[in-house]
Amino acid sequence: MQFALRPASDLTCPDGALAIALGEDAPIDLPASLDPAFRAQLEAVLAAEEFKGKAGASVSVRALGQIDATWVVVVGKGSGSAPDLRLAAGAAGHFAREKGLTRLSFAPGGALSAEAACAVGEGVLDGNYRWDRYHLDDNRKAPLAQVDVFDGDTGTLAALQRGAAISAARSLARDLVNAPPADIYPESIAAAALKLASDRVTVEVWDEARIRQENLVGVIAVGQGSDRPPRFVHMTYTPDVEPVAEVALVGKGVTFDAGGLSIKTSEGMSTMRCDMGGAGAVIGAMSALEALGLPVKVHGIFGAVENLISGSSYKLGDILRYNNGKTVEILNTDAEGRLVLADCLIYACKLPVTHVIDLATLTGAAVVALGEHYTALYADEDPYADALLAAARSSGEGLWRMPLEPLYKELLKGDWSHIKNIGGRMAGSITAGLFLSEFVDGVNWAHLDIAGPAFLSAPERHFTKGATGAGVGTLLYWLAGLGG
Ligand code: BES
Ligand code: MN
Ligand code: ZN
Repeated sequence: MQFALRPASDLTCPDGALAIALGEDAPIDLPASLDPAFRAQLEAVLAAEEFKGKAGASVSVRALGQIDATWVVVVGKGSGSAPDLRLAAGAAGHFAREKGLTRLSFAPGGALSAEAACAVGEGVLDGNYRWDRYHLDDNRKAPLAQVDVFDGDTGTLAALQRGAAISAARSLARDLVNAPPADIYPESIAAAALKLASDRVTVEVWDEARIRQENLVGVIAVGQGSDRPPRFVHMTYTPDVEPVAEVALVGKGVTFDAGGLSIKTSEGMSTMRCDMGGAGAVIGAMSALEALGLPVKVHGIFGAVENLISGSSYKLGDILRYNNGKTVEILNTDAEGRLVLADCLIYACKLPVTHVIDLATLTGAAVVALGEHYTALYADEDPYADALLAAARSSGEGLWRMPLEPLYKELLKGDWSHIKNIGGRMAGSITAGLFLSEFVDGVNWAHLDIAGPAFLSAPERHFTKGATGAGVGTLLYWLAGLGG
């Protein structure tokens, strides 16, 4: 896909869709350069459709030769803020894909700040995303090949391309999550990470023997019920300048979660290919660092396992002794993500990093509390939490801080060990966060429970049903903020 800038005097899109963004302040204020007769007709349609410029709303009409385009789609840009322009562009990109149009021209209705142009670049491509690898050809729609944006300078073009890089990162995460568990399993998700290797990115993959040697007890226990052996992955991005910071991103990489012996219901299991959404977000974010030229040294770490039921599955009553000396009693094999993350957090905290952040489809309790549009944030320090909340807002992701209430540590106390892997019915997403905190040492740490937003049960705004790449935007905006 290619971006180009065009002068606003020429509002056309031969064989494609001309998208016109209008705001809430004056919802029907079409560009004066449109043909007057067509302009009057379009105004009448917008009035009849009660178009009010709400961010992401859209009304489309056939151009029917009245202007040089196949379709004209009017999209709402709300307040005109960067996040609202992302939704407007998202609606336009989504429309183009629904119609299988390969060309789109986007008229933002005024000069774009760099921030807004970046959001437009993201939105167009996020909205244009479809996961159709297994669709039949007659149900496949062409993606966009060319997107023109009206007016702007070289700064606008560079910002659009930054947005495209962010969207590509999100799309990579979405592809990995949407892919069925027959395609994405520990070895193949490690292979996806290996593909990122470049001059600036190194990728180290540990096989089962090495994982045993390193005593990653959580990865071994959770993975042992599967015929597919686990993997441990450590990617490192080193900028071409002196790094301004060094941080680690950790992801939950359970490529399928059947629950193990504490087996899930069929319904509960049906979407559990999304359980590597954290690792997917980490791979996605790592894939964009070079294109974005971020001056931060970034480690991306995940353990990849399948949590299955078999004669070799780990069992209730098993006790794991971690590399930090802590012992964990297994009372539910479906609380597996925290066991794998524990090994990864211990490992990440030994790196020369100041900040560690983990992303995990960790608990159904987070979905109950916040639904599919908010990720639960846990952080041990206010400035870190605030920076992540601001990054999420800029990126258009929902993020809500929850308390790491130490009083609830009581719920995790083990009878036969230091802690248990479940805390009971109360505060399930909080006790999961507190569990993880036991494996963090000497760094600032944040935990994102993306169980809700990682995988939509229905399409929402310009996002299709299924994987969203939740967390990628928050990570990249946060990392970009560290450079400034
Ligand atoms: N992967 C699930 C959490 C999940 C649920 C993700 C729904 C996405 C959507 C996790 O491994 C799990 O099974 N958690 C248990 C924990 C419980 C046994 C303490 C849960 O939430 O029920
Ligand atoms: Mn589980
Ligand atoms: Zn899980």
